[in-house]
Amino acid sequence: MQVLRKAFKQPLSDVVTEFVACTHADAHLVKADLTGSIAHAQMLQEEGLISPGQGEAIQGGLNTLLAKADEGTFQLKVEYEDVHMNVEKQLEELIGPDALRLHTARSRNDQVALDLRLFTVSAVDSLIEGLKLLQSAIVKSAKKHVDIVMPGYTHLQRAQPVLYAHAILAFHEMLARDIERFTDCKKRTAVSPLGAGAQAGSGLPINPQSVADKLGFSKVFTNSIDAVSDRDFAAEFLMACSLAAIHISQMAETLVIWSSSEFDFVELADNVTTTSSLMPHKKNPDPLEIARAKSGAVIGDLVNLLVTLKALPLGYNRDLQETKPPVINSATIVSDALKVMSCVVDAITVNAEKTLAAACDPALMTTDMVEYLVLKGVPFRQAHELVSELVADAREKKVSLIEIELAEYKKYSTEFDNDVFALFNPSLSVSLKKSQGSTGTEQVKKALSKVSHT
Ligand code: ARG
Repeated sequence: MQVLRKAFKQPLSDVVTEFVACTHADAHLVKADLTGSIAHAQMLQEEGLISPGQGEAIQGGLNTLLAKADEGTFQLKVEYEDVHMNVEKQLEELIGPDALRLHTARSRNDQVALDLRLFTVSAVDSLIEGLKLLQSAIVKSAKKHVDIVMPGYTHLQRAQPVLYAHAILAFHEMLARDIERFTDCKKRTAVSPLGAGAQAGSGLPINPQSVADKLGFSKVFTNSIDAVSDRDFAAEFLMACSLAAIHISQMAETLVIWSSSEFDFVELADNVTTTSSLMPHKKNPDPLEIARAKSGAVIGDLVNLLVTLKALPLGYNRDLQETKPPVINSATIVSDALKVMSCVVDAITVNAEKTLAAACDPALMTTDMVEYLVLKGVPFRQAHELVSELVADAREKKVSLIEIELAEYKKYSTEFDNDVFALFNPSLSVSLKKSQGSTGTEQVKKALSKVSHT
């Protein structure tokens, strides 16, 4: 069946019909489209552009279609190209000629922009929920293992002792910024483009503000040409998705490393691990690996959208149809990955003996030795250098710093005293940290109580 082709002598070829249709992506936009159309129909009725009877018939029909969408029985036909024409056709089948008035003062150009904005706003809401869920799992894990000391890393080399809670709460911060980014992006997404028409607006007495109000959108477009072509909100959304996906991938990778036999810092629960078809002993962190990998697809979606938008001429261009799949795809990936990560983090067991043993490495306390000397008045750079020499000496002699005699220490600085040996205690090292946001026990407890109340 052919639609909108009265001005043409030939039907649209089958290959072209298939190629230009977007029913696959639009299956995700049915509810958004119907919601937008209900608001539009109400406005048309309020403004006297359709009669109350026509308005009620149209809204009744749209609500019936909404119920079908909820049941999952709303089917889209490729020959109708997109969700907009599918809805119009199904409405006509349902209520007859009154359906032909629904598209008054509207174009699919402003309609599709509205649909994608409605979809994005609700995706933002559910992603923020997903981010908060993962944050609660993190807080729970931090609280459960609040006293556990482990090595902190730089360059993936042991650096200084830190609290496990401090390490895992670092991810909480990243997710907090993701929430802020999504919240900010929502402000520019919840702007109604309806009323822009194809690009010039309308000669009919419409009320775009009332449509925006009905949809819970804070603003209405200011320029009709911009309204139909603006997909900045989608780019911002995908940027926020990409950063969230990157944070997820970093967290996943960190947990893969911590749960490896080499580290053995954490154990992942059976319900989130898989085994090998050949090696019976394997306990593999597949969900973390998949989450890590899928971040690539999200970044790909962002790049896809940006390249689609680049150098588009002013106004609506059909290229914009291709901005829908990346938004829909990434919203699903990030939402699923957040759920999986919450599940994994919820059931992490920290192996306190292993983390403590690794954090006991005396080499991790060299920074504390430097600060010990600084507190005794040795200039920082000098203290750093003489401890470096001590480290080099110990390396050469293949002894640990704790095995070196005080007399030997004194050769490097007379400020060294017997109390230097007390430094080789990772829990002390952690408690010595007092600065704001540090891994110091008090600081971490403060951070934990702050995030527990958000
Ligand atoms: N199917 C298009 C989309 O989803 C909307 C139709 C706009 N087509 C047009 N010829 N103006 O983006």
